[in-house]
Amino acid sequence: MKIIKVANYEAMSIEGADHILTQLIKKRLNVLGLATGGTPEGLYQILREKINEKALSLNYLHTVNLDEYIGLPADSPASYHYYMQDIFFKHIPIPKENTHLPNGYVDDVVEECTRYEELIESLGGVDLQLLGIGQNGHIGFNEPGSPFNGRTRIVDLAPSTIEANARYFSSKNDVPRQAITMGIKTIMKSRQILLLASGKEKAEAVKALIEGDQSEDIPATALQGHPHLTVIADEAALSGVT
Ligand code: F6R
Repeated sequence: MKIIKVANYEAMSIEGADHILTQLIKKRLNVLGLATGGTPEGLYQILREKINEKALSLNYLHTVNLDEYIGLPADSPASYHYYMQDIFFKHIPIPKENTHLPNGYVDDVVEECTRYEELIESLGGVDLQLLGIGQNGHIGFNEPGSPFNGRTRIVDLAPSTIEANARYFSSKNDVPRQAITMGIKTIMKSRQILLLASGKEKAEAVKALIEGDQSEDIPATALQGHPHLTVIADEAALSGVT
């Protein structure tokens, strides 16, 4: 595990964007795994500017997102489809059909999970997966107790995740209770992983990731076994690490 300590959220976003941009310039990434939430917003803003400044052509690139709520249509402002379109995809020259997210607004969600896992396989797997981390140590929507050998599947959101994500909805009651997420095994198969963390609310989870024992109770500890994991975290997020 490589740990890059930075001063704050802005520095984390710059460092993270640079990490991805360098590899895009060298055409080392064919399949880029993406995350949503507050953590990568700054990275997406910087990365989209740099991509345009450098006039990179991204016709060849495919993106696969980690997760999506069940029961929200793509045009709902709280959906991850909407987030990705709004913050990143509409600003960069990538063919829309190359941007993939699980679809949580279908009749057969179980079939959708299988389709998504097979899609990732058919693209040749993920070259670099971007991750945030939940306060409870979740990655994607793999909540505490998720099996380390899990694939893309339906999950129930933990009460603390519903609480944390309520800021994107008009009320906590509107937060969907279930989601589709890549499993921990799906994530672990990525050739590289880049995890970003900022803020003291993440300190406990980051400490467990870096110093804790591996346990399904803290899903991010699975990443300790990954051969190419880079963590970019700010001082507050690293404040619990000895
Ligand atoms: C989002 C995702 C989640 C978030 C995590 C942290 O696609 O998979 O695991 O990375 O919930 O969220 P923020 O960044 O909002 O603190």
